[in-house]
Amino acid sequence: MTTVAVVPGDGIGPEVVAEAVAAVDELGLGIDFDVLDGINARTYRERGAAMTDADFDRVRAADGVLVGAIGHPSVPDPAYGRGVLLRMRFELDLYANYRPVRLLHDRLSPLRDPTRRGIDCAIVRENTEGLYAGIGGALRPGTDAEVAVDTEVSTHSGVTRVLRFALSAATRSVCMVDKANAVESGGGLWQRCWDRERRTRPDLETRHLYVDVAAMRLVRDPDSFDVIVTNNSYGDILSDLAAEVGGGLGCAASANLNPETGAGLYEPVHGSAPDIAGTGLANPVGAVLSAALLLDRLGHAGPARSLRAAVRETVEAARCTPDLGGDLDTRAAGAAIRAACR
Ligand code: NAI
Ligand code: MG
Repeated sequence: MTTVAVVPGDGIGPEVVAEAVAAVDELGLGIDFDVLDGINARTYRERGAAMTDADFDRVRAADGVLVGAIGHPSVPDPAYGRGVLLRMRFELDLYANYRPVRLLHDRLSPLRDPTRRGIDCAIVRENTEGLYAGIGGALRPGTDAEVAVDTEVSTHSGVTRVLRFALSAATRSVCMVDKANAVESGGGLWQRCWDRERRTRPDLETRHLYVDVAAMRLVRDPDSFDVIVTNNSYGDILSDLAAEVGGGLGCAASANLNPETGAGLYEPVHGSAPDIAGTGLANPVGAVLSAALLLDRLGHAGPARSLRAAVRETVEAARCTPDLGGDLDTRAAGAAIRAACR
């Protein structure tokens, strides 16, 4: 029996995750869902922690975890997110954050020139090091003499393994992105590891760009990219940029993976969108496509393809939410995807 842990979370998280779970159910794969609906901002406000060790054990025992969104303006304390998402990423050592982007329909592109709209790529973001390692501090905080330091960590083993994952995920090319011309030590380490690892795949086109140029190219020549591999913070930023070029944040899916242990956390790239929670405006596509990534990893490549085809079909027919040019609410958009699966 395959079990998937589900963390609906905050805001629109429960709304979009419900449609993703229903879509997977529709495929009849015999997947069991273990829903942890107490992991949210309200629990954090009441108890000072949102995820208990028992919750974490359930997540660890599952074959994968599907997350809606964690975070709410009512809980500004970063310890909330750190105790949930970052805890799962770090303790399950989910070092590769895989974020595919593909334009679902021409009308969704923000680019004016129709010949430049194609995008079908994946950002592979290093997920356990970089600026997010939590090393740093502030001197004299709150004073005019304050000095704040956040250290960017790159390790030989951490960089090597994410480069290997990116090379294994590509079919055409891999572009390594850094800022080695200005950030010397980490840049040098990334460059040396890249130079060694890329030689293992002479069948792929391998290239390098500095992050500023990569951002420009993602807008100007989005179809020139297959896989982009980069560090934690550049990956965070470039994947939102790519998501927008690919039709918007509501469509963007992601997988946080450890290919060696098989552990995986799947979540839409967007957050809890408190501005539209409860209105029915939330687009379920990012959550549904995240579930498709989960199905790929569980060995259900065929059903995952059907789910993606169903999403394309509904978007093409404008049977989708207003952000994609339709007039359906979240539940009706989810129902349309399920109908297209049949
Ligand atoms: P957000 O992604 O929640 O929203 C940004 C904008 O995009 C909003 O205008 C929202 O209405 C719209 N949007 C997002 N998802 C959408 C969808 N599926 N359909 C239609 N429109 C959508 O980012 P924001 O507002 O900065 O963050 C809100 C909360 O979410 C914060 O507490 C933040 O910490 C948290 N967050 C959590 C993430 C996660 O769980 N991985 C990622 C990003 C933010
Ligand atoms: Mg982000």
